[in-house]
Amino acid sequence: MKGKFITLEGTEGVGKSTNIACIEQWLVARGIEFISTREPGGTELGEEIRGLLLDHRSASVDIMTELLLMFAARAQHLYEKILPALNKGTWVLCDRFTDATFAYQGGGRGVDTELIQTLANLVHKELQPDLTLLLDIEPQIGLSRVAQRGDPDRFEMEELAFFERVRQGYHQQLAEQPERYRLIDASHSPDDVAGAIHRVLDKFAEQLV
Ligand code: TMP
Repeated sequence: MKGKFITLEGTEGVGKSTNIACIEQWLVARGIEFISTREPGGTELGEEIRGLLLDHRSASVDIMTELLLMFAARAQHLYEKILPALNKGTWVLCDRFTDATFAYQGGGRGVDTELIQTLANLVHKELQPDLTLLLDIEPQIGLSRVAQRGDPDRFEMEELAFFERVRQGYHQQLAEQPERYRLIDASHSPDDVAGAIHRVLDKFAEQLV
């Protein structure tokens, strides 16, 4: 049987790292074999592309360059890591996937979603996450958390309106694909967020038996 593909999405400062750890604990507790990975990145080449995408530059980055680099990293990630794992029954937990491209490059930058869909079809044909957890928070709150961390990357330097559009992009996907998307209110306490995530995962696992 194929492994399950779980992705975590959200705008900046939403607490993805903490909640990835929370999902990992859930998987370990159930004895499920899994790998944990991220986008852009996840492979040696992908992590190099991540560096290119997140670094600050004196010249602005062309939107198409950004879009194609996201998919270039993703193609390598699928080929080298995600598909081999799923095919041997290992679950894959991924910090962001193509939904981030629809939200950031589509919603945030205004790239035509049909073009993004064409690239998605090219790079991963019918593969879709089985479950996507959308951690949701007011972008302003998330950005103030990011500011406390210091040293923002190229995306984190964007203005608030950009992240409002990204969030809208996620909400649109949530409305269009309710069967795999689950909304998690990330403004609650870490324990409450972890509890909500565990409940979603328990329900997801129940449906598999
Ligand atoms: P992270 O720091 O949350 O892991 O993600 C790196 C940044 O890359 C984040 O600001 C979102 C952005 N991103 C996109 O713009 N498009 C994508 O397809 C992905 C995967 C990430």
